Amino acid sequence: MPNLLEVVRNPIAYIAARWTPTQRTVQRAALTALVLSVIIVVSGGAVRLTGSGLGCDTWPKCSEDSLTATSEMGFHGAVEFGNRMMTWVLSAAVGWAIITVRSAKPARRELSRLAWSQFWLVMANGVIGGITVLMKLNPYTVAGHFLLATGLLTVTTLTWLRAREGDSPPRPLVGKAIKQLVYVLTAVTALLIIVGTAVTGSGKHAGDSSDVPRMPFDWKTVAQIHADLAWVVVALTLALWFVLRAVDAPVGPKHRIRDLFLILMAQGAIGYVQYFTDVPEVLVAAHLLGSTAVWIGVLRVLLSLRERGLPQSGESASGDTGTTGDTEADTGTKAGGDTETAGETEASAETEAAVPAPARDGERESAPQQAAAPSPSPTPSR
Ligand code: HEM
Repeated sequence: MPNLLEVVRNPIAYIAARWTPTQRTVQRAALTALVLSVIIVVSGGAVRLTGSGLGCDTWPKCSEDSLTATSEMGFHGAVEFGNRMMTWVLSAAVGWAIITVRSAKPARRELSRLAWSQFWLVMANGVIGGITVLMKLNPYTVAGHFLLATGLLTVTTLTWLRAREGDSPPRPLVGKAIKQLVYVLTAVTALLIIVGTAVTGSGKHAGDSSDVPRMPFDWKTVAQIHADLAWVVVALTLALWFVLRAVDAPVGPKHRIRDLFLILMAQGAIGYVQYFTDVPEVLVAAHLLGSTAVWIGVLRVLLSLRERGLPQSGESASGDTGTTGDTEADTGTKAGGDTETAGETEASAETEAAVPAPARDGERESAPQQAAAPSPSPTPSR
């Protein structure tokens, strides 16, 4: 018989005390939240692209007299209200992620924090979405809404990637110079996405058929800046690809940067075609999906630069190889030739040699590759 007081006081702790999910369950819950955070970006885009932004003309109710969309509100009402309902599906996925992560044994505090940040970001985005409606689709709040959704995507991606690896101190797989180049890549990609929202904000897809104010930029100029930034991102990605090959880096970072390059090619092609064909809705929607893929791709590159061992669990991942996110066969020595400094702990040479090296995601590549790097210092810097 459940102790009702205990359940009511802290239902998550109650479940966590009685249930231990497998690693696979934790990873699936994290992946579900990630997939839904991608879907909500595209479904939000569908609201704008079908001109349904004011399909429900107020918030939190759909209209002054109705909580939900009614048949008189027609297609636009159904699309807008459908997107609002999507928030609840996303919230359920985030709730599931919080419960599974919190119930994992041994406790994973960082993962719990990430899962809870998802919750707060969903709440914040619900409110910004409401403000967007109340401000009659002001283009700056529309942009803020998209960027906050990208913030949620960041956290769901990090949760998923962290769920696939353990909590041992990060062990760098590449040198400092490469790491810094990836930081630059991440920052320029973020800027590219921000400028993308300004292209949209000054473009024709305002989200409603009525007169919605636009950002006061020349659309062609801002689209040109956006495309130039995309080229910088492509150039940085190519440079990283060559450098990682030159230093014989582990396969994890090499594969992640290759994936990113391919995604960028597809996204860039969509971008140019939509630019030259008067931004048809279907291509804009594909470009939105592409922007989530680019950002996930960049975060995967970022986290592939170090490894954190295997996730520990009382229960096995039933059939999983049990390897971590990007540890793959890439557990050789640090590539890039220079030594890591503060902020990341380096494992001892013994630990390093002992890290298992099976590939994941169907990749089983050659044995760890030895890069021309000095042996890392055995002294933890943190
Ligand atoms: C390759 C990396 C690229 C990324 C990550 C990216 C990302 C984005 C993002 C996030 C938006 C704003 C979406 C929104 O606020 O709803 C956007 C809009 C846009 N992008 Fe890109 N973009 C890329 C490349 C390009 C290229 C090469 C072009 C070519 C000119 C382009 C053309 C556009 C246009 C025209 C819009 C406005 C669409 C509209 O009016 O709704 N993009 N992009």
